[in-house]
Amino acid sequence: MTHFIITIDGPSASGKSTLAKKIAQRLGINYLDSGAFYRSIAAFLILNEDSAEDEGFLLGFLQNATLKLEYEGSFARYFLNGVDLSPYLRNEQVAMKASRIAKFGVVRKFVNQNLQAICKKGDFIADGRDLGSKVFPKADVKFFLTASIESRAKRRELEQKTMGTETSFEKVLEQLLQRDEQDSKRKIDPLVKPADAIFIDTTSFTTDEVCEQMLVNIKKKFVVRPSWYRVLIGSFLKKFFKIFFRLQVFGEGNAEKVLGGLVYANHTSYLDAPLLLSILGPNTVFVASKRVIEKNIFIRCVTRFFPLILVDEKNMPRDFFRICNKEIHKGSPVVIFPEGMRSITGEILSFKEGLASIIIHCKITEVLPIYLGGVYKAWPKERLFPVLWKKITVLISKPLCITGHKEGGAKEPRNALTEHLKKRLVDLEKQYKDKYE
Ligand code: C5P
Repeated sequence: MTHFIITIDGPSASGKSTLAKKIAQRLGINYLDSGAFYRSIAAFLILNEDSAEDEGFLLGFLQNATLKLEYEGSFARYFLNGVDLSPYLRNEQVAMKASRIAKFGVVRKFVNQNLQAICKKGDFIADGRDLGSKVFPKADVKFFLTASIESRAKRRELEQKTMGTETSFEKVLEQLLQRDEQDSKRKIDPLVKPADAIFIDTTSFTTDEVCEQMLVNIKKKFVVRPSWYRVLIGSFLKKFFKIFFRLQVFGEGNAEKVLGGLVYANHTSYLDAPLLLSILGPNTVFVASKRVIEKNIFIRCVTRFFPLILVDEKNMPRDFFRICNKEIHKGSPVVIFPEGMRSITGEILSFKEGLASIIIHCKITEVLPIYLGGVYKAWPKERLFPVLWKKITVLISKPLCITGHKEGGAKEPRNALTEHLKKRLVDLEKQYKDKYE
């Protein structure tokens, strides 16, 4: 499996780490703070009162040094030679020393080797000064963030005061100017914008606005061209449903808005998945029950050519939510049938918790309800074969906005959210029965 890497470079206090952490959370990937590696070395040297800052001394020291990172949720602890340096990393004396020793080739080599080794183990978003240009030149998506020196100084002043550090705007401004000078004028791997990086000036945007902008760019980069056979199957299915089931779709524009988003629909028939595939496009990914897929040879054969995210209710895969998030942010519509099984009567059954869990864990802000009308009559659960010439009508709602996500879950309790989502589908069903059945 190949892992992906997103890099953010830019000057100090341009918002890199705040945004990298937010995006890591939204995508369900790890955040890697390369500045913390330089800071760890600096903090270790300060704690040991080693004030020498020449290349020979640093080479000797780093030859036998080991750097380790331990994640506690999304928070990482940094250990150099077994010493936990995390409590000292945000100190300004440490930052200045980090910036001074970062100009030495031996230090950069040590840090870069560690960064590259860590990123082989998973998907990461990493921030620093030379990540897109030097450390990960083949990164999947590269950003370069900057902001005016005044707004960077204001942000840093606020950050330091929040941490209880006595400081002033003028002092912070001076420190930032000095660090900018050191970082962009050093001979080895200075701070530069990689030619293929997406440039964002964050001065007049809020963090949330920049975050959304970056997520849109990530999505655009990740949208994969589907393989030719999927495109072929998709257009065949479209014609098949038009000819044999007089397919009509209302609200197709709403589906286009959620390129890469979570979609849910009622489930009455084997036709539901191919029907949605023909509407949402060949990149569509379905969340499916491992148990159902394993026991049904027909479904197993059909789904061989299309990606599935498998759920095992008794033994949830550890990275289930991460995979869902990744697919969504890669630009794939991810479809879930929240009833968990085909309805025998054609009526909408009660929803299982899966849909709400994905929304809460992945902090999804928009979800698209789709009602598949008439499919039940075209191929009800008890029939072996479909009945041709029945009319199928699909209603695609406007995306539902989910608000109130915060650490540890959404504001709305899971049950209330589940009921809210079901109600929207029931409303669509009513609309279908009143107007189109
Ligand atoms: O980003 P942060 O302020 O934590 O970085 C501390 C110092 O480490 C920076 O001022 C910079 O000199 C150095 N650094 C670097 N290359 C990186 C990350 C940080 O030179 N990729």
